Amino acid sequence: MSVISVSNLSKYYQVHEKEPGLLGSVKSLFYRRYYDVKAVDDISFEVEEGELVGFIGPNGAGKTTTLKCLSGLLYPTNGKVSVLGFTPYKREYKFLKQISLVMGQKNQLWWDLPAIDSFILNKEIYDIEDKQFNQTLEDLSLLLDIKDILQIQVKKLSLGQRMKCELIAALIHTPKVLFLDEPTIGLDVVMQKKLRDFIKQYNQKYKATILLTSHYMRDVEQLCKRIIVIDKGKILYDGLLSDIVKRYSRYKLLSVELSEQVDRKDLEKLGEIKEYNFPTVTISVVREKSSNIAAKLLENFPVEDINIEDPQIEDIIRRVFSTKANI
Ligand SMILES: Nc1ncnc2c1ncn2[C@@H]1O[C@H](COP(=O)(O)OP(=O)(O)OP(=O)(O)O)[C@@H](O)[C@H]1O
Ligand SMILES: [Mg+2]
Repeated sequence: MSVISVSNLSKYYQVHEKEPGLLGSVKSLFYRRYYDVKAVDDISFEVEEGELVGFIGPNGAGKTTTLKCLSGLLYPTNGKVSVLGFTPYKREYKFLKQISLVMGQKNQLWWDLPAIDSFILNKEIYDIEDKQFNQTLEDLSLLLDIKDILQIQVKKLSLGQRMKCELIAALIHTPKVLFLDEPTIGLDVVMQKKLRDFIKQYNQKYKATILLTSHYMRDVEQLCKRIIVIDKGKILYDGLLSDIVKRYSRYKLLSVELSEQVDRKDLEKLGEIKEYNFPTVTISVVREKSSNIAAKLLENFPVEDINIEDPQIEDIIRRVFSTKANI
């Protein structure tokens, strides 16, 4: 049985229409017109134990809404959701003990207290035994490298330090299923990488099933084999990241280091020059011919080093959204 099972899930928000201005406000006191925002519109997918799946899409696509339905904060309008065999919106204690939702933009820590106090509160809520609590706290602090900041008031921590503490608070009960909603938002690249490494380690160490949303494609690229792409409440793609890269990138980038200047015209015969800034040249070539052209380059030009790269995931995903073809 899948750990996460979503079938024909829809979530509509009812919002009321208000005409602009004061008159509009007065009118809306007596007469309200409602309409539905289809935040999630009939989506289905399964996630198996231990999978780390990237859930990506533009702003307003329905990602957070889906994660809230999966963690039981929202009641679905239609369809069925099951997580670890539980129905999330019932919010049974046994279910809550095994999951966690982490939102990069929201915090659960108490601002005026040191982080450790929030952890102890969670220890009580989740009924964690002393020994297990201490062990997990030790493990997580080690993985995140933060031992010395647990006694400092949360409001005095940096964003990155606070995010690490947020993660510990969310994971102190060692949940089997983790919903991560933009955990790296606003962090600098070094801290983003640290959190990514941590997420990977947590996934492996605890065999946790993780659904991750992020606008940073590096997160997705480095963590997730499989991605689910959502836009306007509909799933556009569910499959391997490597497949979408293959399908959507008809071109590869040859990145070359030259030892001497060469005539640009000679290089242009091989493909489209994306950049020529001696000693570096980047040439875009048709995928199937990339090894052939690389060989030609090596043979006929003063090449120091050569790399064949796929186009940026960002570019590929942008194409997925713009074509909306059957993928
Ligand atoms: N409480 C709400 N009431 C009404 N509409 C809402 C509410 N929450 C979200 N929406 C709408 O539902 C749609 C999906 O929102 P959601 O927050 O799930 O998107 P998202 O994919 O998480 O976007 P982002 O990448 O910006 O976080 C949007 O059109 C949003 O405006
Ligand atoms: Mg969101």
